[in-house]
Amino acid sequence: MWRFHHRRWIHTLFSSYKTLFTLLWVFGFTSLFLWQRNIVDGFFIFRRPLPSRPLPHLRPFAFNLTDFGAVGDGVTINTKAFENAVFTISKLGKRGGGQLNIPAGKWLTAPFNLTSHMTLFLAEDAVIIGIDDEKYWPLMPPLPSYGYGREHPGPRYGSLIHGQNLKDIVITGHNGTINGQGQAWWKKYRQKLLNHTRGPLLQIMWSSDILISNITLRDSPFWTLHPYDCKNVTIRHMTILAPIFEAPNTDGIDPDSCEDMVIEDSYISVGDDAIAIKSGWDQYGIAYGRPSKNIVIRNLIVRSMVSSGISIGSEMSGGVSNVTIENILVWDSRRGVRIKTAAGRGAYVKDIKYRNVTFENVRVGIIIKTDYNEHPDMGFNREAFPVIRDIRYESIHGEGVRVAVRMQGSLEIPVRNVSFRDMSVGMRDKKKHIFQCSYVEGGVIGSIFPAPCVNLDLYDEQGLLVKKYGSANASDIDYDI
Ligand SMILES: *[C@@H]1O[C@H](CO)[C@@H](O)[C@H](O)[C@H]1NC(C)=O
Ligand SMILES: *[C@@H]1O[C@H](CO)[C@@H](O)[C@H](O)[C@H]1NC(C)=O
Ligand SMILES: *[C@@H]1O[C@H](CO)[C@@H](O)[C@H](O)[C@H]1NC(C)=O
Ligand SMILES: *[C@@H]1O[C@H](CO)[C@@H](O)[C@H](O)[C@H]1NC(C)=O
Ligand SMILES: *[C@@H]1O[C@H](CO)[C@@H](O)[C@H](O)[C@H]1NC(C)=O
Ligand SMILES: *[C@@H]1O[C@H](CO)[C@@H](O)[C@H](O)[C@H]1NC(C)=O
Ligand SMILES: *[C@@H]1O[C@H](CO)[C@@H](O)[C@H](O)[C@H]1NC(C)=O
Ligand SMILES: *[C@@H]1O[C@H](CO)[C@@H](O)[C@H](O)[C@H]1NC(C)=O
Ligand SMILES: *[C@@H]1O[C@H](CO)[C@@H](O)[C@H](O)[C@H]1NC(C)=O
Ligand SMILES: *[C@@H]1O[C@H](CO)[C@@H](O)[C@H](O)[C@H]1NC(C)=O
Repeated sequence: MWRFHHRRWIHTLFSSYKTLFTLLWVFGFTSLFLWQRNIVDGFFIFRRPLPSRPLPHLRPFAFNLTDFGAVGDGVTINTKAFENAVFTISKLGKRGGGQLNIPAGKWLTAPFNLTSHMTLFLAEDAVIIGIDDEKYWPLMPPLPSYGYGREHPGPRYGSLIHGQNLKDIVITGHNGTINGQGQAWWKKYRQKLLNHTRGPLLQIMWSSDILISNITLRDSPFWTLHPYDCKNVTIRHMTILAPIFEAPNTDGIDPDSCEDMVIEDSYISVGDDAIAIKSGWDQYGIAYGRPSKNIVIRNLIVRSMVSSGISIGSEMSGGVSNVTIENILVWDSRRGVRIKTAAGRGAYVKDIKYRNVTFENVRVGIIIKTDYNEHPDMGFNREAFPVIRDIRYESIHGEGVRVAVRMQGSLEIPVRNVSFRDMSVGMRDKKKHIFQCSYVEGGVIGSIFPAPCVNLDLYDEQGLLVKKYGSANASDIDYDI
């Protein structure tokens, strides 16, 4: 019955052209309306928060920062919430520790400390923002291996997120951000309004078993990520950002007297060295005596318009050894890979392997500099000459480079046993002074471009000596290019 009636109704309706016409109008308008709504919807995709990705459970206990009264409005100061959360987690160490989830929002805070067996998890669109009024930043004693605040004598500002004497720390997330609001600090630094050394964004001292991954660090007041005298540190899938100009000393990662460390799969573009391996400064670093060693740095894209992509030093007075730097792209930078030191530093830089490093639009590619004369005070020992040796450059490529190599040793600090193999670097303009050396001893295996300086011996691919130059002390350094 129903079917019959239904059909008849449709039949009656369509029997009239007028009705059909009306129907077409209705259909047309409906389509137009739906189409428009889709556009508006598409537009809103960029504004409406998507359903947030579920956060993984990485510890037996998990907390939400809001459980501790935090408000993510970018204005409320949440230091107490962070402190209470860390205190709560500090009681759970024996039971596997705790995870502190930072949900989407802007979480303003003064500096706070981490605890052992803790995971800090930053959800997508979570931003921890460091308060930029130095009144809120506690002062800490200078690092023992530096003696000084580094910029000023005496104490220094602590770091926004700090940890010391800890074990088993994870800082990770769905690419949430820790933002140091460095602008205010850089300005005060330039205007000489600060009486103490600026604080790093993230500093972990005397600790072990550390994993930092999948987050973004930006606009640190000073060095961005500073692991100090730590063991077993992994840093991966990171984005580290600061303006490429006028963001003084915003190094990306500074492994300092650390051992067993991996930095990989990350992007760093900052206002100073992207990475600088250190181990203390002159007499203080020599006395502290902790080297940086067993470090692997790989699969990075780095950029530094002011300084260099990957540095070792200049503070290296505890020694630096056994470092592998591979699969690195340095782009639009002042310098590519640099070792820097000076008389007074003492110790050594040795057993350093560079492999598959590409320079794209870099002023000077490879640098060894032995007169980086910046000292904490006049108490350094001028006779404390660092030893620079056993350095290997392999598969070095690039284009748009002005000086491929500048290795400047000296009578007191000669550079020993460097080797080159498989290098081809496209030069930007000049054809002279593009491979500069002084007091450098070592060899080249096979042919490389540009042609090596006269200081180096030549070997064939089989490692047989082809030509012994024997003029290791020859000097051809030209800072004008
Ligand atoms: C944290 O709590 C807030 C407010 O109660 C909530 O909106 C958010 O979904 C929670 N996030 C997590 C990761 O539990
Ligand atoms: C973190 O702990 C260190 C060492 O106990 C202390 O000097 C520093 O003031 C603490 N920082 C904060 C913000 O509480
Ligand atoms: C993480 O966020 C940064 C800054 O917004 C962005 O540049 C980067 O591409 C993001 N990384 C991933 C894997 O989404
Ligand atoms: C720095 O020291 C001067 C002189 O003691 C003082 O007037 C000034 O307030 C201090 N500045 C800061 C930022 O502490
Ligand atoms: C290094 O730390 C990781 C955690 O980041 C841990 O899983 C691993 O067991 C540690 N390795 C050693 C040798 O202690
Ligand atoms: C971390 O980042 C990498 C590379 O972007 C990605 O493959 C991985 O899934 C991320 N891990 C988490 C937990 O989001
Ligand atoms: C050098 O470092 C690598 C990677 O950290 C490590 O596997 C190796 O054992 C170290 N070599 C020496 C001689 O310590
Ligand atoms: C060399 O490094 C680049 C990154 O600069 C990477 O894309 C490439 O896969 C690496 N090549 C090898 C053979 O590992
Ligand atoms: C020269 O350095 C290489 C590492 O680049 C090392 O294997 C070799 O033993 C060193 N040679 C001498 C004579 O020290
Ligand atoms: C070359 O320099 C070394 C030290 O760097 C020195 O021992 C040696 O005597 C010098 N040789 C010449 C010929 O000057």
